[in-house]
Amino acid sequence: MLIETLSVFPEMFEPVMSTSILGRARQAGIFDFRAYDLRDWTHDRHRTVDDEPYGGGQGMLMKAPPIYEAVRSIASSGPHPHVVFFTPCGAPFTQAAAERLAMQERLLFVCGRYEGIDERAYDLADERISIGDYVLTGGELAAMVVTDAVVRLLPGALGDAMSSVDESFATGDSGGLLEYAQYTRPAEFEGAAVPDILLSGDHAKVDAWRRENAIDRTCRWRPDLISSARLTDSERALAEQ
Ligand code: ADE
Repeated sequence: MLIETLSVFPEMFEPVMSTSILGRARQAGIFDFRAYDLRDWTHDRHRTVDDEPYGGGQGMLMKAPPIYEAVRSIASSGPHPHVVFFTPCGAPFTQAAAERLAMQERLLFVCGRYEGIDERAYDLADERISIGDYVLTGGELAAMVVTDAVVRLLPGALGDAMSSVDESFATGDSGGLLEYAQYTRPAEFEGAAVPDILLSGDHAKVDAWRRENAIDRTCRWRPDLISSARLTDSERALAEQ
């Protein structure tokens, strides 16, 4: 997979793209990454990418022409990229969206700054994504969040092939629940013991405990997920008590 970003701060990306699992996946050729500077597609002395909004109002808007020119020129070589614009007005980013994006051959992330982007630039977008109901100073951090969530799903990116399946929100086995609680040594810590079943060696009981724990935790911390979680009738009856 090729992931590219278009932004006025291309230098923000390199530390994240060369560290830990992303860094290793990139070194291993599982994904390639390029960050473009939007100012390279301006034509004035000041390399201007923003201007005042028509109709008045606070702050500056990103101009459509440099974005258009940049996206067209980046997309003109190689396979056509799937183009994502980051904005707090986009669709909420979810694990399902990460799984969908992970199937693309080439992603181009367009990161806004200032008070927003001229609406006409969005004509280039295949989709608009928000990473949450809060306003960041720009789309770069959102692009990094999405890159991280996508790359770890690519085959070979995580050492253990199973480790991205059985976890919170995955559309796989966990059925849309939060992940169950996990423990490692010591068996007792600050007066809190690891649940006995996890020490029992009885895998069927461990699986049952984990399932029940995942449902309990979801009821407690994310009750909004319960209605769409894949539960048996008896699990649903318990969850809705
Ligand atoms: N740009 C500014 N805030 C954002 C958000 N919450 N998600 C995506 N892009 C953004």
